[in-house]
Amino acid sequence: MSEESIPAATGLPMRLSRLHNWLSLSGMVLAISAFFAFMLLFAVDLFATHANPYMGILAYVVAPAFLLAGLAAVLVGYILETRRIPTGHPEMASNFILHVNLTRRRDRRLLVGFVGGSLGFLFLTALGSYQTYHITESNSFCGEVCHTPMEPQFKAYQHSAHAKVACVACHVGPGAGNYIRTKISGMRQLYHMIMGDFTRPIALHNINQRPAQETCQSCHWSQKHTGDLQKTYRHFLADEANTPFTVQMVLKVGGSDPVHGPVQGIHSHMSVSNKVEFIATDEGRLNIPWVRVTDANNKVTEYRTKDFTDDISKYAIRTMDCMDCHNRPSHKYLTPNAAVDQSLAFGRIDVTLPWAKAKVVQALVQPYATREEANAKIESFLRGQYPDEKRVNALIKETQAIYTSNFFPEMKVDWRVHPDMLGHKDSAGCFRCHDGKHLAGDSKSSIKGSDCNACHLIVSQGAGKDLEKVDAKGLPFIHIDSENSDPSCYECHTGQTQE
Ligand code: HEC
Ligand code: HEC
Ligand code: HEC
Ligand code: HEC
Ligand code: HEC
Ligand code: HEC
Repeated sequence: MSEESIPAATGLPMRLSRLHNWLSLSGMVLAISAFFAFMLLFAVDLFATHANPYMGILAYVVAPAFLLAGLAAVLVGYILETRRIPTGHPEMASNFILHVNLTRRRDRRLLVGFVGGSLGFLFLTALGSYQTYHITESNSFCGEVCHTPMEPQFKAYQHSAHAKVACVACHVGPGAGNYIRTKISGMRQLYHMIMGDFTRPIALHNINQRPAQETCQSCHWSQKHTGDLQKTYRHFLADEANTPFTVQMVLKVGGSDPVHGPVQGIHSHMSVSNKVEFIATDEGRLNIPWVRVTDANNKVTEYRTKDFTDDISKYAIRTMDCMDCHNRPSHKYLTPNAAVDQSLAFGRIDVTLPWAKAKVVQALVQPYATREEANAKIESFLRGQYPDEKRVNALIKETQAIYTSNFFPEMKVDWRVHPDMLGHKDSAGCFRCHDGKHLAGDSKSSIKGSDCNACHLIVSQGAGKDLEKVDAKGLPFIHIDSENSDPSCYECHTGQTQE
């Protein structure tokens, strides 16, 4: 117990001495650490290569909250101390007032302990803040912490060519405007996540929030001349034998920069000298009735569909960019048809199991409210279809796996919500413009590149011996349902098997 006399509680120095209590001192350490953490986070944020949407929450909400808590502790300590002194129990108060006398070993030890402890705490705060920053940067934070709302995007992303690219590399654009927008959007997301009132399915708040072309170009050199790209599409019919039907073709991807090769083919839309602009009348940009091309010589050509007579000044005109074709570079939800074709092609579903294609697609497309319900009903449906079949367990497992990767009943997300625009079989895609129905002013010419060999050449098709007949000049497409090819492909092919 201290033997020194307690100074009278008068004057400013004395009032400050009321801060000499453990509560106030701990508050100070907390406040200083929080301030330190704030400065550190602020600096990291300032010098980071791209804005992190959740950083704002750490730097401007969490750190200041700790700062305030620390200051509050200082104040409470002060008030408690003030209350104690006028009650006239100086002895009691003295237990709490700090008297540091450096000549005493115990005090020296206490002081060293306190200063050492505080420095340690400060260090841990810095380390903790920096670690937390790293966690918010990580893909699992974007995809998993925010589990329900982002699950579809995260799952699909893990199967995409971009599975090794950070979410923030695409979703946080360069520049100061994006920086601020990202901060606000991070706060808004957190708010909706806590309130649970996010939309199902999650939508980009505004279509202009999708990644900018410059973002893709930070990795992809779009002047590259790709030329021809060989692709194989393996399908299976919805018949008893799951008859294979394969299309092998060469996609004329071409290039967009005359310096590196001829401007031609599919990537010619991205030509440095050409410009393709369009109007979409719906948010999903499925309906494009008006297109304008400005070529290298500044010649402007406008194309319209016959029934579109509106004044274009009512609409926003957009310049075509990568995402108008590659709209699902990293969150692609396979159609049930395509997913089952893939499993059959890779041998994950036994192709000799009668009607497997038709039955599995049928099991996938039923309306289910939750994943658990889907798993249970897929199992009971398939068991009912194949009562004496040993392979049914593997079939059930694979069907459930397809469902898990491509269907998100809780978020109401599947291929129908986010159609892929890259082709024209299951969604309008390229045919939004290349359907031969967009006519120039003279009403005679339509957009170039609308015949079957403009974008690709079918090299071979069919199955077995047929598939060995190869023609590099391009074959006419032999459709299964050949009498019936008048409508556009996507009007029959909706992603499910055709009845
Ligand atoms: C290769 C670039 C890229 C990467 C990497 C990427 N995204 Fe996306 N993301 C996109 C594009 C493009 C869109 C859709 C734009 C459109 O439809 O117009 C999108 C859309 C979204 C949407 C809106 C809903 C939707 O499906 O259209 C969410 C949510 C989303 N992404 C979350 C994520 C998360 C979480 C990650 C990381 C696990 C991630 N993204 C990684 C490019 C990317
Ligand atoms: C951070 C770098 C990065 C960014 C940003 C990026 N990509 Fe990629 N992209 C990659 C990588 C890496 C691959 C995979 C290469 C491979 O096959 O291993 C890839 C592959 C692709 C492919 C080929 C897909 C396939 O199935 O083989 C396309 C198309 C593509 N990206 C389009 C885009 C688009 C559109 C954007 C903008 C929304 C974009 N990328 C943004 C790095 C990036
Ligand atoms: C008119 C539609 C369209 C536009 C616009 C477009 N692409 Fe493509 N791109 C395609 C098609 C079709 C393919 C063929 C690949 C396929 O079918 O998977 C392709 C292929 C690619 C590939 C793969 C090439 C390879 O060598 O494997 C990359 C990477 C790519 N595009 C990036 C981009 C980027 C970046 C942009 C924007 C600057 C862009 N594309 C704009 C339609 C387009
Ligand atoms: C927004 C409308 C639009 C969409 C969507 C679109 N295109 Fe185009 N495309 C054009 C316009 C306009 C031209 C220039 C044609 C002209 O000058 O008449 C063009 C030109 C082309 C050409 C060059 C044709 C030639 O002979 O010079 C090819 C190949 C092509 N597009 C392929 C595609 C593919 C593949 C897709 C889908 C992945 C696609 N386009 C999607 C509007 C579009
Ligand atoms: C504007 C360009 C364009 C035109 C015109 C076009 N296609 Fe395609 N087609 C594509 C692209 C791009 C893909 C590849 C889609 C992908 O990789 O997902 C494709 C894919 C295909 C496939 C393979 C699809 C699959 O899943 O098996 C067939 C078959 C096909 N086209 C037939 C035709 C026929 C028949 C015509 C004429 C009526 C035609 N295409 C006209 C761009 C075009
Ligand atoms: C009138 C309706 C209709 C139109 C239009 C149509 N198809 Fe089909 N398609 C069918 C039917 C029916 C089958 C047989 C489905 C089965 O047994 O799984 C089929 C089968 C196919 C298959 C093989 C199996 C599969 O499910 O993928 C391909 C590939 C295909 N069509 C591509 C196309 C392309 C490309 C176009 C446009 C050029 C097109 N179809 C237009 C009705 C149509």
